[in-house]
Amino acid sequence: MSLLLCFLLFSLYPPRISAATDTVSPGHALTGSDRLVSNNSKFVLGFFKTESKNSSYASHNSYLCIWYSKLPMITPLWSANGENPVVDPASPELAISSDGNMVILDQVTKNIIWSTHVNTRTNHTIVVLLNNGNLVLQSSSNSSKVFWQSFDYPTDSLFAGAKIFRNKVTGQKNRLVSRKNSIDQAAGLYSVEFDINGTGHLLWNSTVVYWSTGDWNGHFFGLAPEMIGATIPNFTYVNNDREVYLSYTLTKEKITHAGIDVNGRGLAGIWLDSLQNWLINYRMPILHCDVYAICGPFSVCNDSNNPFCDCLKGFSIRSPKDWDLEDRSGGCMRNTPLNCGSTMNKKGFTDKFYCVQNIILPHNAMSVQTAGSKDQCSEVCLSNCSCTAYSYGKGGCSVWHDALYNVRQQSDGSADGNGETLYIRVAANEVQSVERKKKSGTVIGVTIAASMSALCLMIFVLVFWMRKQKWFSRGVENAQEGIGIRAFRYTDLQCATKNFSEKLGGGSFGSVFKGYLNDSIIIAVKRLDGACQGVKQFRAEVNSIGIIQHINLVKLIGLCCEDGKKLLVYEYMTNRSLDVHLFKDNNKVLEWNIRYQIAIGVAKGLAYLHDSCRDCIIHCDIKPENILLDASFVPKIADFGMAKVLGREFSHALTTVRGTIGYLAPEWISGTVVTSKVDVYSYGMVLFEIISGRRNSNQEYCRGHSAYFPMQVARQLINGGIENLVDAKLHGDVNLEEVERVCKVACWCIQDSEFDRPTMGEVVQFLEGLLELKMPPLPRLLNAITGGSHSTSLLPIDLQ
Ligand SMILES: *[C@@H]1O[C@H](CO)[C@@H](O)[C@H](O)[C@H]1NC(C)=O
Ligand SMILES: *[C@@H]1O[C@H](CO)[C@@H](O)[C@H](O)[C@H]1NC(C)=O
Ligand SMILES: *[C@@H]1O[C@H](CO)[C@@H](O)[C@H](O)[C@H]1NC(C)=O
Ligand SMILES: *[C@@H]1O[C@H](CO)[C@@H](O)[C@H](O)[C@H]1NC(C)=O
Ligand SMILES: *[C@@H]1O[C@H](CO)[C@@H](O)[C@H](O)[C@H]1NC(C)=O
Ligand SMILES: *[C@@H]1O[C@H](CO)[C@@H](O)[C@H](O)[C@H]1NC(C)=O
Ligand SMILES: *[C@@H]1O[C@H](CO)[C@@H](O)[C@H](O)[C@H]1NC(C)=O
Ligand SMILES: *[C@@H]1O[C@H](CO)[C@@H](O)[C@H](O)[C@H]1NC(C)=O
Ligand SMILES: *[C@@H]1O[C@H](CO)[C@@H](O)[C@H](O)[C@H]1NC(C)=O
Repeated sequence: MSLLLCFLLFSLYPPRISAATDTVSPGHALTGSDRLVSNNSKFVLGFFKTESKNSSYASHNSYLCIWYSKLPMITPLWSANGENPVVDPASPELAISSDGNMVILDQVTKNIIWSTHVNTRTNHTIVVLLNNGNLVLQSSSNSSKVFWQSFDYPTDSLFAGAKIFRNKVTGQKNRLVSRKNSIDQAAGLYSVEFDINGTGHLLWNSTVVYWSTGDWNGHFFGLAPEMIGATIPNFTYVNNDREVYLSYTLTKEKITHAGIDVNGRGLAGIWLDSLQNWLINYRMPILHCDVYAICGPFSVCNDSNNPFCDCLKGFSIRSPKDWDLEDRSGGCMRNTPLNCGSTMNKKGFTDKFYCVQNIILPHNAMSVQTAGSKDQCSEVCLSNCSCTAYSYGKGGCSVWHDALYNVRQQSDGSADGNGETLYIRVAANEVQSVERKKKSGTVIGVTIAASMSALCLMIFVLVFWMRKQKWFSRGVENAQEGIGIRAFRYTDLQCATKNFSEKLGGGSFGSVFKGYLNDSIIIAVKRLDGACQGVKQFRAEVNSIGIIQHINLVKLIGLCCEDGKKLLVYEYMTNRSLDVHLFKDNNKVLEWNIRYQIAIGVAKGLAYLHDSCRDCIIHCDIKPENILLDASFVPKIADFGMAKVLGREFSHALTTVRGTIGYLAPEWISGTVVTSKVDVYSYGMVLFEIISGRRNSNQEYCRGHSAYFPMQVARQLINGGIENLVDAKLHGDVNLEEVERVCKVACWCIQDSEFDRPTMGEVVQFLEGLLELKMPPLPRLLNAITGGSHSTSLLPIDLQ
């Protein structure tokens, strides 16, 4: 961490550029803190120093790098000597050697550390840093004679104008390779390249493909539709008999960053002056755990966790220092060596297995046909010292040998419990300690459960007694009418939902199931993720939000918090949620007047949450999935108060759920305090989707123009012609005055500054026509992100 800190401090204050020249010629070397600056002042070449530290001795590594000159921090785009840094106390020098090559030397000893190694047949050469960031070694008399150029040898970034290519005739190719860690410029394990057929792949250790681009359809790769919405609008892809290549050009003087990151994910983004940071709007694969061996051997990857890598039980991080710098290739190692094959074994010690549940199994299993039962499978694995894990399931017996990669936690929302169980081999004493921990956990759990049920029993007896005495009968009746919250037993809810069999959906915080109370009242039961921490507080918070009632808020009926499980019971909504009606292709189209009523209803519900309750409640997660519709399409906001109920877990759930991010206000990114105006922003984004009937983040590429929808609306409002933007499925059957009002409100809601956005109370008045609206300005930030022209959505914005 301290290393990282040093690095950050260093990179925040790049040394001043002294002499502004773009050329190195024979006899004029570049040393120490000298810089080459391209003629347009966009790129800089110089020695980039990082601190490297072994146990006691701190030293500096110098790398010859190219970076953007105008940014407040150094983001190396290219490096020459990643594998051979110049180490203290040697001081580096860039020069032209007597054979005409560009070389990096030790300034004192003149030992050559790195060279371009080309046959120039002349020593009349110079090195120039061109305006596009290409560093070329060329003839000093004829600039068309180029002997070597950095564009042919990219590291982890693709410059505008450079190519990632493969020559199908000669087999010559280049590729982007990830850096080893977040400061070391040496090559890492991940790369991008084209195969002979012209398909792009992400590879691990040059051998294992973990992501592919699919075919090019003229505008983007089939499996990367996000490309069209990326900040880089003009990709050129050529694939013929002789060659395949990809490059891009910039229409404006944008500062872009495209390539492969240290975690093996392809990325593209731009520098935003307003954020003073990179806005990376495209990463493939989206999930960290989709990157092969991302956590190294004997680890488990959990995408809903932060950090996403952890060691399996019985193992610990091999190199915490590298791990902190995002190099996890060393993975985890055993705390105790296996007994297998050792002399201890003869004394009766054997290895044992413990199980990890809800796992997506690693692919490279060996199938053992002869093992017909779980026990036989375990025997097979125990009998071979290199066997490290086994699984017995639908596919029979599978075993894994040596380093175990890609053990991945099934996330609760993504699949319906079809995760498998993996048995991990550890030394016998390790499994005992694992079990001991588990047992003490269960004991505590049992104790809590026992005392809870004792408490419940006492309360029950008390209530029963009081009821008999008719002292308390009014209170109980009220509880049944729904004023106040009912506490359910877990078994009751299990019974009501037929053991959680009918899943209605998976939300940000858990899964929702349909159930029946007394076989007549239909309920929706939400099972929250995460352990039940702070039972008392949970109950108190749920009770406090349970009191809140409004026609446009989903009614909370009860809760259950028992034995580590948290459940909330809501009234059931016949017409599910807004996203189903807007985006899912069903035959019934939501009419305009219903949409308009939904817009007003949601605004009223939010206004109530923000202004009318005792404490202002910020919803924080407004999106169509959280807008439920009852039998007569009255909208009801779900999941309000979750920030209160879940506390710290909440923000985590919010940022790890993808798709939600397109509704997040800029404050979330900049990290300033959020106010109720974040709900206003998200509400605005939902309004756009109500107008278009499509997701903002999901464009229709086939239409001639495909600008980011909210920006299209903002521009059309100014230019006129808003009716063309309404959902085509409505066939023009709309009230244009209302459409314009909704468009204006939506544009005001998504203004960058929270102070420019209206309150929800004002929104209600605007929509009901009680207040008039001025013409909204273009939202500046979105305009900047979308290139101010006809490029498209960048969202979802990646926050990590
Ligand atoms: C550098 O740019 C200036 C104008 O900005 C131009 O006059 C000059 O010719 C350029 N030099 C080279 C070597 O391209
Ligand atoms: C640390 O680095 C110094 C200088 O490179 C070297 O002499 C020393 O042996 C290294 N120590 C360890 C423990 O690697
Ligand atoms: C170029 O090479 C010639 C002989 O090969 C040598 O005499 C001369 O000094 C060299 N020039 C430079 C600038 O290195
Ligand atoms: C410069 O080099 C190019 C490419 O090698 C060649 O075609 C051209 O004739 C040369 N120009 C001069 C003036 O030598
Ligand atoms: C290229 O395409 C051919 C024919 O579709 C296929 O057999 C071959 O495996 C492909 N090669 C690669 C490297 O994907
Ligand atoms: C990567 O592949 C090379 C051989 O191609 C192998 O020697 C090396 O061990 C592999 N690296 C890892 C981390 O498995
Ligand atoms: C995109 O790039 C190609 C090749 O560089 C160029 O011919 C074309 O004019 C560019 N298109 C736009 C819209 O900039
Ligand atoms: C994965 O991460 C989520 C979120 O932190 C957590 O609730 C869950 O328990 C984790 N799974 C495992 C097996 O650690
Ligand atoms: C253990 O399994 C590996 C991989 O299948 C195999 O190569 C090796 O021969 C086996 N060893 C023994 C002792 O059976």
